[in-house]
Amino acid sequence: MRLGTPLFSNATKILLLGGGELGKEIVIEGQRLGLECIVVDRYQHAPAMQVAHRSYVVDMRDGEGLRAIIEREIPDYIIPEIEAINTDLLVEMEEFGHRVVPTASATKITMDREGIRRLTAERLNLKTAKYRFAESLEELRDAVDYLGMPCVVKPIMSSSGKGQSIVRKKEDIEKAWNYAKISARGLGSKVIVEEFIDFDYEITLLTAKTEEGIKFCPPIGHIQIDGDYHESWQPHPMPEELLREAQNMAYKVVTMLGGRGIYGVELFIKDNEVIFSEVSPRPHDTGMVTMITQNMSQFEIHLRSLLGLPLNIELIVPAGASHVIKSNINKWAPQYDISQALSIPNTSLRIFGKPLARVGRRMGVALAWGENINSARENAKKCAHSVEIY
Ligand SMILES: Nc1ncnc2c1ncn2[C@@H]1O[C@H](COP(=O)(O)OP(=O)(O)O)[C@@H](O)[C@H]1O
Ligand SMILES: [Mg+2]
Repeated sequence: MRLGTPLFSNATKILLLGGGELGKEIVIEGQRLGLECIVVDRYQHAPAMQVAHRSYVVDMRDGEGLRAIIEREIPDYIIPEIEAINTDLLVEMEEFGHRVVPTASATKITMDREGIRRLTAERLNLKTAKYRFAESLEELRDAVDYLGMPCVVKPIMSSSGKGQSIVRKKEDIEKAWNYAKISARGLGSKVIVEEFIDFDYEITLLTAKTEEGIKFCPPIGHIQIDGDYHESWQPHPMPEELLREAQNMAYKVVTMLGGRGIYGVELFIKDNEVIFSEVSPRPHDTGMVTMITQNMSQFEIHLRSLLGLPLNIELIVPAGASHVIKSNINKWAPQYDISQALSIPNTSLRIFGKPLARVGRRMGVALAWGENINSARENAKKCAHSVEIY
């Protein structure tokens, strides 16, 4: 397949694979840095497409479709924003001379939970929840027997808690299997079963792999509901030695994965112990809080890292928080009443501009800063709840 003559350009060109809310912020930062920004997603009018120079609609698991776009655009950097991408094609493109962020192999290894476990638990020997993989209901039953209940079942490839459930009693096993299978949307029916960690708190450690070495953002605390990001705040207070241990783990993981860019390293903390959870080779949804807390957001850090630009990371407020804004209606191109929300002090909004509102879909995020985490969280929550989608 060919899409026409290649579009040569003098500008430095980035090709975003995935055009959701995180991609949109990467594109906005890219525009500010003078980059030409091209976005690919599987539906028209995705958030990042609205601010890009050009865009394409294709299912990114389709290698031939992706190849045609890359051959036409000849991007300087290919930046994956989601997991469900034909990563073999990325490996091939990298061999051909394209730069994949952070690297093609990092996107391939972290594409599913199995790759992440092989790297972190098995090769790096990091402490993780006990786990087993299962490819049938029978194997799932065996895994639950081995791990005990409660335990967590997740499709090996999914995000935002899709297909994830907790098995608390024997009757939950079949439900968990079916739920994971439906949510995997044709991506296979392999699941990971994990020991349930009753953690004290969980954090995301944004870790930038830059020209000048590895740099950390202050830890971000967060709350997930049904495995999906709901609230986050920064800096999450934690004892110095635990933070150092967390950074040490993140350091090992990103060093192994390599390349340039920001990584989101997710960790559980329980009884003074750091337990590795997962890693994403890109900005993280809980990291949206950095748009109000830091001198440069995780999106700008991602771009500066891959471009080899100087960067320093500093908090510019005592504390900040983010809270998701979810739709409670189904509607095409909805309107937003935001006047009430913005009357709450020290707040700011990012409405993503998703063309279709669906009940429960994340449509925006409220940001707030304050003298301490509690006041920032409270204001972010009030702000989010005051947005009316109609
Ligand atoms: N083994 C576990 N024990 C306790 N909570 C878990 C476990 N695995 C996941 N969770 C909870 O579910 C959230 C989402 O799980 P995660 O593995 O990060 O999936 P996703 O890739 O969808 O983000 C985590 O942030 C955590 O709150
Ligand atoms: Mg996660």
